[in-house]
Order: sequence, then C-alpha cells, then structure tokens
Amino acid sequence: GGTLAATASGGREVSGGRLAGRAELPRPFTVPLPVPTVARPVRTTGGVDRYEVTQRVADVEILPGLRTPVWGYDGLFPGPTFVGRSGRKVLVTVRNELPVPTSTHLHGGVTPPDSDGYPTDIVIPEGWRHDPHGQGGPGGPGGPDGHGGQDSQGGHGGMKMSPDAWTISRQTKRYDYPLDQEAATLWYHDHRMDFSAPQVWRGLAGFFLVRDAVEENLPLPSGDRDIPLMICDRAFEEDGSFRYPALDPSLTGRPGVEDAYTQGVMGDVTLVNGAPWPELEVDAVRYRLRLLNASNARRYRLRLEPGAPMTQVAGDCGLLPRPQRLDTVTLAPAERAEMVIDFKQWKPGDTVTLVNTLEDGAMRNVLRFRVARRAKDPSHLPTRLRDLRPLSASDAVATRRFDFRMTATDGGHAWTINGHPFDTERYLASPRLGTVERWRFTSDFHHPVHLHLAHFQVEARNGRPPAAHEGGWKDTVDVRPYETVDVLARFHGYRGRYMLHCHNLEHEDMAMMANFRVV
Ligand code: C2O
Ligand code: CU
Repeated sequence: GGTLAATASGGREVSGGRLAGRAELPRPFTVPLPVPTVARPVRTTGGVDRYEVTQRVADVEILPGLRTPVWGYDGLFPGPTFVGRSGRKVLVTVRNELPVPTSTHLHGGVTPPDSDGYPTDIVIPEGWRHDPHGQGGPGGPGGPDGHGGQDSQGGHGGMKMSPDAWTISRQTKRYDYPLDQEAATLWYHDHRMDFSAPQVWRGLAGFFLVRDAVEENLPLPSGDRDIPLMICDRAFEEDGSFRYPALDPSLTGRPGVEDAYTQGVMGDVTLVNGAPWPELEVDAVRYRLRLLNASNARRYRLRLEPGAPMTQVAGDCGLLPRPQRLDTVTLAPAERAEMVIDFKQWKPGDTVTLVNTLEDGAMRNVLRFRVARRAKDPSHLPTRLRDLRPLSASDAVATRRFDFRMTATDGGHAWTINGHPFDTERYLASPRLGTVERWRFTSDFHHPVHLHLAHFQVEARNGRPPAAHEGGWKDTVDVRPYETVDVLARFHGYRGRYMLHCHNLEHEDMAMMANFRVV
C-alpha cells in the first residue's frame, strides 16, 4: 500500500500470469432476467420489522455452465430486496460468515450514525484476529483475491487511521433503519475500510425499497410490472470466478495497469440483476423499471433501440415532482433512475434493447425486452407525482467547497478531497442539524460524489441549471472533469459522524473520502 503507484504495480506482479484466462461468454439475450427475491421479516412486532441476513460464500451460475463463487447477503447476488415503509422501523441483523470483515451501508438511508456502515465500524467473522495497528499490507485491489492478508488494513493513498478508529462487532451487528423518509429506491452494499471495491465486486450489494402512501396512490405500474434492475459490469476468469482487478487493458479501454486504478475497475460483461446481458419478456403495457448503476466505476448513458422515449418518474431519493420524458438517461456509479417504459408502442414479437451509448460492441448491450402479448393496462402516467419544494440559494446558511482530485504525495499520488486523503480523525465540515448548505464540488476527473445521511438538490452545473433528470432529491451526483457542481444539501435526521466520498469504488478505497459531523 502507501501510494497509488505502489498499489498498482503490486497488482501487476500478483496478477500478471493470469491475464490469458478468459471464460467463454454467453451470447447476449440468451439468459432470462432474474428478479432478486424479496426478504421476509423473521418477526413483525409493534410496528417494527426484524430481518436477519447472513453474508456468506456461495456458488452461483452466472455464465452458463460455470460456477462463480460470490460473497452474497444470504449467499445471493444481488442480495435479497428489502421492502420497507416510510415511518415504519426496520431492524436488520447482519451475520458475517465470510472470510473477511464487512460493514453494511444503506445507501440513501437516513440512519443513525452507528447504523450507517462507517468503514471502520466492522463486523468480524469468527476466528478473525483484528489488529488495530495493521497498516500498509498488500491489501486492496492489488491483493491476489482482491483482499489482502488478515488485517492488512489501511495505508492506501496515504490514508490515516488511528487505532481507536475501529468499532468491532463480533459475527453479528444490528442495523437500525427508522425509515423516516419518502418512498425511494435505496440500495445496500459493503463499505469496509480499504476493501469496499473488491467486496462489492464479489457480490455484496442489494436493493432496499421504501414505499409510502403518496406513491401507492399514484397509478404507476406495480406488482410484477415494477422491477428493480441492478446494472453492473464484471470480468471473469476461465473457471467462471470473478476476476478482480480486470487488468486487461482492453477492459479499461486504455493501456496499463495503473489505469485500472485511476479509472476504477471495469469488466467486459454487463450484468443485470446478476445475469449477463439478459432478456425480459414483457406484456405490451407500461413497466416501472428501477435502474441502479451498481458498477464499481463504469458509467452508463442508456437509451432504447429502436429509439423511443422513456419517462423518468424518480431519481436517487424518490419521486420527481413531474414525470420527465427522456431519450437517454445517464447513470454514474450509485445513481438511480426510475423509468416508465410503455411497451404498447410495439407489437407482440418485437424486441427492444436497452443500450449503453457510451460503449461499442458487446458492452453496448445491457438488457433486451421481448414483447410477448397484448394485455390490459390499469396504469397511467399522472402529470404530477408529488409535491416538492425546490430549494433555492436563500435556503443555504453556508457555502462550502470540496475539491476532488489526485494530489502528489511523498512517493506517489493519492485521491484526495481538499488535498487530504481520508483521515478518520479529520472533519471537513460541521453542518447544523436541520439546516441547508450549498456544497460546491470541483474535480479533475469523473467523480460521482455521494453524501451519507443528507439528501440534496442539484442547484447548478458550471453555473447552469441541471438537466431535468437531475431534479428531485438525490444522494449522488456525477461531477465531471473540471466541472463545478453546486448542490443544496439538507442535514436532517441525526447528529453525528457521516461521510462524503467518491463512489467510484476504487477511488473510495484509495482514500477519496472525508468525514463531516452534523452538530
Ligand atoms: Cu453507496 Cu458510502 O456509499
Ligand atoms: Cu472518484
């Protein structure tokens, strides 16, 4: 560890001999789209739903005929979908039976700080000896399995960590999710210090849907016409196991190992709900598709082929005030967009493909819809979805700047925020509970910036109003190279320590994170 350069060359040594192996990939649209199973509460008492979920290793079939070992919640990839209700508390007890520590973050959740999934608030498996001083091991993306030896924590990109930074839970931890928030497509994923990227890559991610009365009273498509779609890319070894990092330059589009770390790690297979380039049979009616970009680093600009408009009804943190008709929707890592697509405009037998126009070849394909039959459609698209007061400049009690860029350090480079690699003891801001602040993000590269706890509205990109699909409440915003993005963030819910970070998971593991404290 220590620097970006050192980590990257470590990766080259470790993985150099394995570049040749490449699993046989399926032809696109030959695998049916799976829909993640819905988690069932183990107990429902006094307005509280209790769940138990076990993180474990399991073999799944992703590429036809091959077995892929995944690290999954309940052994599933994606993990089970939790469905909660606004104002009704959910308690999730996570049991860790993996060979490594974990931390589970509810992305978009308004959660108390000790249930937030802070990177050093970890659940260790049985038999794991935690060394709080462990620093600078091979670890991270450079390790042979995408995770280092026992306790090889820390040290990436000059990250600083005091031994007291750790909060250790043995084998299980209960996460409390009060869900005092509006209907939205949230997701949960691993957030372990230094290892979020390889651990999410191995499968630790799933959906968490919040419903509420406003949404239920809308005539939007529902039931099995309301489908979450987790889009992510992966690379595979010849035996079907995940390959991390994907060092082949043809996967990153640019030569050299270091690019896997500057760009983040990408794969050469697009998975939707864990299946490669799947196909979904649909009735010729409206569907509500909850798109999530769960990739470590890849961005998507999605459109239908043949071209047809889609209607966005929700963003990261819930319904937009009004539906937005769009030809394309762009999703940086961790962003969500809920799209209504009306398949009535096609006839039975037609196929329609969701493609990523940022790519060519196989990586252009995402998901194909096959229109199977005509059917009754009780849904329609209302002109208004929900009341939403747009925040304005006068709501902001402060303006703070956060600059995301690569900074030279002694012996290499680090991904930093305001010049600092992540330091568990440093706070870059202390907003007051209940206030709104303008946070101004600048960058040298594509950095999808995510705030824990606080939801925000995008105020401006380079001084101009944001695109329609960036309306509504969000928790992640793509800051593009040399852009200035202003968001108006509402600090609500809880006091305590939270963080903001880049959601390119390799950047995140390489120290592009910072604390803020709500006071
Ligand atoms: Cu989805 Cu701190 O992240
Ligand atoms: Cu980044």
